[in-house]
Amino acid sequence: MNEKPVDIKKYLSDRVLKLEESPTFALEKKVDMLDGQLKAKGDYVVRFGIGQPDFNTPDNIKDAAKTAIDQNKTKYTASTGIKELKQAIVDKLARDNKLDYGLENIFVGNGGKQVLDAIMRAFINPQDVILVPRPYWVSYTQQVVLSEGIPLEVDFNDLLKIEVVHLKSLIKQYESRIKCLILNSPSNPTGAVYNLKELKEIAQICVENNIFIISDEVYEKFIFGNAEHISAAGLGDEVKNITLTVNAVSKTYAMTGWRIGYIAAHQDIISQMTKIQDQSASNPCTPAQWAAVEALNGDQESVEAMRREYEKRRDYIYNRLNGIDGIKCSLPEGAFYVFPDVSSFYKGSVKNSFDFSSELLEKAYVAVVPGAAFGDDRFVRISYATTMDKIKEGMDRIEKFCGSLSR
Ligand SMILES: Cc1ncc(COP(=O)(O)O)c(C=O)c1O
Repeated sequence: MNEKPVDIKKYLSDRVLKLEESPTFALEKKVDMLDGQLKAKGDYVVRFGIGQPDFNTPDNIKDAAKTAIDQNKTKYTASTGIKELKQAIVDKLARDNKLDYGLENIFVGNGGKQVLDAIMRAFINPQDVILVPRPYWVSYTQQVVLSEGIPLEVDFNDLLKIEVVHLKSLIKQYESRIKCLILNSPSNPTGAVYNLKELKEIAQICVENNIFIISDEVYEKFIFGNAEHISAAGLGDEVKNITLTVNAVSKTYAMTGWRIGYIAAHQDIISQMTKIQDQSASNPCTPAQWAAVEALNGDQESVEAMRREYEKRRDYIYNRLNGIDGIKCSLPEGAFYVFPDVSSFYKGSVKNSFDFSSELLEKAYVAVVPGAAFGDDRFVRISYATTMDKIKEGMDRIEKFCGSLSR
């Protein structure tokens, strides 16, 4: 048969063609391949790429899902979640974040990523502006693009947090086209945590300029030293009215594959957003919802055990990185990432963060994500959601690799 060639791209939307591949998923594919080849030689890649806890989901949570399945809790549910899970979220927000919400304020979806995408769909008309502070989690800008909005990048200061002067100047310039600001504390990729003073200043600017705050708090439980997690919505009613608090069980309970995330916001927003869920996702996976009920209501000791372990790893990796000539790294106060500046090595064949990461992978078998993917080419992101043994081995390899580069 004679097949006529079809130009698929002519049929696909500009929206999807413009979308970038997730750099972390792309890296994982490459690493999987290399790792397979190395295994045959008794070696392996040290994976500092993906932001996925190395811990297993705690047993009490897994048991709750098994029970749900045995009890045939396997059918469709209300599109934004079962009431038992919404109640567990309401109770959690009151207990942990001092936020007073009712069931009507809660929207449960398929992970933090999907609920964030639903927010973008709900808020963005073509050409609307969403303020995305750099360095940012890779999906924020692309989700804005997918909804045909404009992600406008806000610069950062020495602490890797929002540069308020730049924020104000962008607001002056773009005024009414700006719909929302994304706030991510603790931050992926920097691990920066906003303190009360900083949060108040930014929230006040948003209140004065009618800008909604999308407060992504998925790393809230992994906080180190004297740092404290503060929910933006807790700064008073004016701020609460313009804030959508986003969270998920993925990182906190090592439940990345279960796909449960949620939003707490004004009921008028939630009721409109429910239509999106009705017409697209139907509902989050039913047994996973029951597992999330147990995660939020059950014993929290496993979360604290993971936090302690992450803190040990952070201390180790931070000290090792700063001990390497040519690397500058600020101390992350939360999440499970470090974001070192490696730009002093940009000489010869290593011209940018992509080259640095590629050579590090190909020559030293260590996977890190180029900072350019997060909006700043001077850096690379290292995820320390892996075992201490692997971290030690990975740091030895990075040290040796950096020693081999010219500066
Ligand atoms: C800052 C941030 N927000 C949201 C998410 C999404 O998490 P989930 O796995 O629940 O979709 C991630 C995942 O990497 C993240 O880093």
